[in-house]
Amino acid sequence: MRLQDKVIVVTGSTKGIGAAIAKVCAAEGAKVVVSGRSKADGECVLAQIVQAGGDARFIQCDVSNVDSVRTLIEGTVQAYGRIDGLVNNAGVFPRVSLLDVTESDYESVMEINVKGAFFCAQSALRYMIEQHCGSIVNIGSTHWRMGGPTQPVYSMSKGALHTLTQHIAQHFCRKGIRCNWVTVGWVLSDGEMDLTRSEGHNEAYLQKMLPMAMPSGRFQTGEDIAMACVYLLSDEATQVTGTDIEVTGGFKPEAIPTIDLSSLQGK
Ligand SMILES: NC(=O)c1ccc[n+]([C@@H]2O[C@H](COP(=O)([O-])OP(=O)(O)OC[C@H]3O[C@@H](n4cnc5c(N)ncnc54)[C@H](OP(=O)(O)O)[C@@H]3O)[C@@H](O)[C@H]2O)c1
Repeated sequence: MRLQDKVIVVTGSTKGIGAAIAKVCAAEGAKVVVSGRSKADGECVLAQIVQAGGDARFIQCDVSNVDSVRTLIEGTVQAYGRIDGLVNNAGVFPRVSLLDVTESDYESVMEINVKGAFFCAQSALRYMIEQHCGSIVNIGSTHWRMGGPTQPVYSMSKGALHTLTQHIAQHFCRKGIRCNWVTVGWVLSDGEMDLTRSEGHNEAYLQKMLPMAMPSGRFQTGEDIAMACVYLLSDEATQVTGTDIEVTGGFKPEAIPTIDLSSLQGK
């Protein structure tokens, strides 16, 4: 029970990695707010938590809408009286090469991955400052420095999130707030599998790529990522801020020799 009675919001926890983070936090004693756009998926995660004996609520939220974000954070404080932790997990990762990115591709990734996390942090910080304590965890990616050939906007969005992590860690530490980053390696989440299938591949294809890509010999799971979040949200980490925990199994996307040059042909 490393998060006993802590109130924790996990954005994008209706499925994938976020759902695993919400469930593990609840199993560690937290009061968890599950959120995302899909009410049906959110209520399914909520039911699993409650069935396992956890305490949770679902608050619908589209992080790309600032009013919706305020409703999420205010709704959390109304329900539980405080907010101890925020996991900025909601994210999208379409694969489009730089020369093919449209304005709407660009805007949708930035609105969710950057603007969403920014305003979630801003709304949560207002309460955390009053409490003089709080922990924000931003879910990052190995792609944040440069990214693969079909992820220019996604990579930039994670780069911006990395900067936000450092900004909050540095400038809000004296107000009792910590902010850290977890680098995710490669998780076969709902979103990752949908994307893989949409590109005409299946899990067997990914498993074939595994020995080449992943030094640890297996893909990471949502629970692997959740355990790093639990540590950063817990009182074990009260002196940890501005750090990066890599839960990547040694994965480096640039080491995969599968660049699809055809997708980079100029227009
Ligand atoms: N899977 C990987 O290998 C991998 C690697 C590196 C980093 N990551 C990062 O891990 C995070 C989670 O990814 P995942 O693989 O678990 O993806 P996923 O299975 O597609 O889940 C994404 C979650 O984000 C939510 N979401 C999407 N747009 C949203 C919006 N506008 N407002 C609120 N919630 C929204 C979705 O819920 P709704 O559809 O209900 O809104 C869903 O719960 C992302 O930040 C991603 O960049 C993943």
